[in-house]
Amino acid sequence: MDLPTEFSLSDLLELPQTAAASSLSELQKLLDEERNRCAQVIAVSPENLTEAQSDEVRVRFTGRKSPLQDWLKSLRNFPAEERKDAGAKINQLKSFLEGEVERFVLACRASAEKLRLEREKVDLTLPLPELNLGSRHPVSAAAQQLLEPLRRLGFTVIDGPELEREFYNFEALNIPAEHPAREMQDTFFVASQWVLRTHTSSVQAHAMLERGVPLRVACAGFTYRNELDLTHVPTFRQIECLVVDKGITLANMRSTLDAFFAEVFGRPVKLRLRSSYFPFTEPSAEIDVQCQQCFGSGCRSCKHTGWLEMGGCGLVNTRVLESCGIDSKVYSGFAFGMGVDRIAMSKFGIADLRSLYEGDVLLSRQLALR
Ligand code: DAH
Repeated sequence: MDLPTEFSLSDLLELPQTAAASSLSELQKLLDEERNRCAQVIAVSPENLTEAQSDEVRVRFTGRKSPLQDWLKSLRNFPAEERKDAGAKINQLKSFLEGEVERFVLACRASAEKLRLEREKVDLTLPLPELNLGSRHPVSAAAQQLLEPLRRLGFTVIDGPELEREFYNFEALNIPAEHPAREMQDTFFVASQWVLRTHTSSVQAHAMLERGVPLRVACAGFTYRNELDLTHVPTFRQIECLVVDKGITLANMRSTLDAFFAEVFGRPVKLRLRSSYFPFTEPSAEIDVQCQQCFGSGCRSCKHTGWLEMGGCGLVNTRVLESCGIDSKVYSGFAFGMGVDRIAMSKFGIADLRSLYEGDVLLSRQLALR
């Protein structure tokens, strides 16, 4: 039943005029009226009542405001032989009303809930609030950018463990236990035979032993050393390349480096290979790139040398090839490795490497834009 416009709940909930009865017939009339009133109220469609109003209905017919309790009390004015009958009639109506009203109140609640959900309905055509997405850390971004030209040069990008066996980090790379080259890196020893890799060169040993020849692989990843100052942090990233095939020479290495750095800097850059020592390469060299700030004339960022040191390279030491199961009479190779953080520093013009690792979101966001 829809509510008539002039409907007033309070009219329907009004208490009966006669609050007491003294005979069975009088009582029967009161009970019938009460039942009718209730029937009228719960015939109203639940969606026409608020939850508060449905509460009023409950209080009026089954709670505090119900006259049933008074009527039960008035039974003492009844002739003794009618009392039992009268009491039974009242209780009968009571349980009837309780059942009906309970059902009605639940229906009111359900329809109020339905209404609320409808009002809150999601409008799929509304524009989304702006999402606050983060960005890659500048050094992670730099690492990925460095791998791109290598992919184009035909390198397969691989991964290796950061928690590494001493064998892969040292022995396989021609750095036996008592070798002074172990002094070059302040290693985190984690457990017997286990280290946090000090360089990504350990991935070279994995690649040779697990993939075999010919090989053209690159990897970028975290490396760990116990050091901390303006230009060193204990956790840093390196990028590593390895090529092993028949007839590989320094000329292949040089042309790969030239092509790689040209792509990294977006134009051909001057490279200088400076003779050096690494146990895993022979001959070995440091890779210097001409300073892109002063183009060789000397400035603060290249410490007035005109060159920036990028990493190391060389022809893979035959001992390394042999200890990784490769016949060094048939195969030769070259490798190079460098610090991604260093490249990011020179790319972003950062003076203190540590500022990259202070978790400063503003700095990261600013660098990500470049
Ligand atoms: N692993 C060396 C370092 O951490 C860098 C390096 C030098 C890597 C020469 C190479 C290489 O692959 O051939 O200092």
